[in-house]
Amino acid sequence: MITVWPAILEHDLQSIQQRINAVAGLVEEVHLDIMDGDFVPNTTVNDPAGISRLDWKGLKVSLHLMIKHPELQVRNWALSNVSSMVVHREVVNNMDSLIQLLHGINVPLGIALNPHTPSYEVTPYLDQLAFVMIMGVEPGFAAQGFNSDVLEKIRYLREQKPTLPIAVDGGVSLKTKAALVEAGATILCANSYLFKADNLIEAYHE
Ligand code: DX5
Ligand code: ZN
Repeated sequence: MITVWPAILEHDLQSIQQRINAVAGLVEEVHLDIMDGDFVPNTTVNDPAGISRLDWKGLKVSLHLMIKHPELQVRNWALSNVSSMVVHREVVNNMDSLIQLLHGINVPLGIALNPHTPSYEVTPYLDQLAFVMIMGVEPGFAAQGFNSDVLEKIRYLREQKPTLPIAVDGGVSLKTKAALVEAGATILCANSYLFKADNLIEAYHE
């Protein structure tokens, strides 16, 4: 069973609302990119109150937190329709306390690995995570080329834990889909492939 999460990377609330409007009724859940301009060289809306006032139209949202010091901010991001938070392994010093923190606020935790971050950084924690997210690009921008070296990490994690949901973010398209699914990915996050398509609904179903 493959799930597709439309990925929303926008710089103002109005543009996020337009993306929500475009996929409401088509999907149940979206992936929202949050960037602080520090962990990545780009910024998006980094304002939980503003995001919470959007008209989410019943959609759940998985927050992709591309921010430094996530442990200081996750409480502010625990909005009512947040279905999970994804934190980057590269910025976590103490995985155990992060896992406890998310458990305490009752939010499922996904851990993202940048293309060059090895899978052993996350393997000790697989039983405590809702999913692992493999980045197919360096985080920061949409519409970059997919780094096929990461397929090996997906295969390895799939072997380590056959029931683990594995998300992929960055460079997901019709071209990369087959290899991703074959390697073991179960959640495909896609931004430009969907939102730049002539027909978003057709692109989603494909
Ligand atoms: C990159 C973001 C991705 C991005 C994906 O830093 O985390 O979610 O929006 O964009 P595409 O699908 O165009 O590679
Ligand atoms: Zn993302």
